[in-house]
Amino acid sequence: MGYSVAVVGATGNVGREILDILEERGFPVDEVIAVASRRSQGTEVSFGDRTLKVKALENVDFSKIDICLMSAGGAISKEWSPKIAAAGCIVIDNSSTWRMDPDVPLIVPEVNADAIEGFRKKNIIANPNCSTAQLVVALKPIHDKVGIKRVVVATYQSVSGAGKEAMDELFEQTRAIFVSDPVETKKFTKRIAFNVIPHIDVFMEDGSTKEEWKVSAETKKMLDPKIKVTCTAVRVPVFIGHSEAVNIEFENPITADEAREILREAPGCLVIDKRENGGYITPLESAGEDATYISRIREDPTVDNGLNMWVVSDNLRKGAALNAVQIAELLVARGLIKPRQQAA
Ligand SMILES: NC(=O)c1ccc[n+]([C@@H]2O[C@H](COP(=O)([O-])OP(=O)(O)OC[C@H]3O[C@@H](n4cnc5c(N)ncnc54)[C@H](OP(=O)(O)O)[C@@H]3O)[C@@H](O)[C@H]2O)c1
Repeated sequence: MGYSVAVVGATGNVGREILDILEERGFPVDEVIAVASRRSQGTEVSFGDRTLKVKALENVDFSKIDICLMSAGGAISKEWSPKIAAAGCIVIDNSSTWRMDPDVPLIVPEVNADAIEGFRKKNIIANPNCSTAQLVVALKPIHDKVGIKRVVVATYQSVSGAGKEAMDELFEQTRAIFVSDPVETKKFTKRIAFNVIPHIDVFMEDGSTKEEWKVSAETKKMLDPKIKVTCTAVRVPVFIGHSEAVNIEFENPITADEAREILREAPGCLVIDKRENGGYITPLESAGEDATYISRIREDPTVDNGLNMWVVSDNLRKGAALNAVQIAELLVARGLIKPRQQAA
């Protein structure tokens, strides 16, 4: 007997990807319920070769559902995740609402799988920010060997990280520029086509943005509170795939060759690092893939024990949908969940 799984936000970028990944990885489902807003009620989404009719969130009875994969934004999660969890359904949430709650595990299975054991306190498990997920997958294996002191990261984040309307905006602006139509800006603060914008999420009091704060705070929560992390988060005119230029200062010496060897063996990582034309990964090549790609590994001679690297991954997959499905798989693998119909 399999599980009953709801995907909330099933019409969105992340929700559609979750449906694909559940199917691709053969997650043991008996029933999949596609859920979105009232606007989408009755529309259809694909799940493998099946078509699912979308239900409005208000019309779903979560008391018979085992797992809710939630990706409908922070406000919806704030209101609905506690209600869904109280109905006995485990929520795996993609928004930022619960990530820093001490009673909610924030999980990247390759990094801190054991932390999942605490999930019963709220029945909610948080998925990290897309930029954090790929960063910690690349940092964890080297931190375990030589200890990380400080990380300086600049992100180059694709527009799909801001939802399906943001993807439409990049497409529309690009088209408008080519046919000399007026260029409209709706979701982004400045034109994104043929531009880059050093501003993601709201500004904080210290001048950083919330996105930059998330990368630092979430990395500390999952990896080690002692690591210092500073980030500049930038939106770039790429549809799918986040890239990161990462500078790392270690407690102990490590060469680029040693780091490359450690990362080659590490779960979730794929090292593509040839010092020649095209010997590295770009976001275009990461789209639709599961790996966190690491390229351009080199020593930084300006600090003691420093390395630079380039980290790329599909933000809709490892940054959101894949990680959420891996968390569901972890629950099953550790025997932390049983299908409720079977338990009854
Ligand atoms: N994109 C990423 O890389 C990424 C990474 C990590 C986390 N996340 C998080 O994942 C969440 C979804 O992101 P996304 O990129 O998939 O956004 P999106 O493409 O804009 O999709 C939003 C989804 O939420 C649904 N929704 C909106 N209002 C709702 C309501 N009142 N009740 C039920 N469903 C509602 C939408 O349904 P309708 O179609 O009916 O409006 C749609 O299915 C966000 O919290 C985001 O921060 C995204």
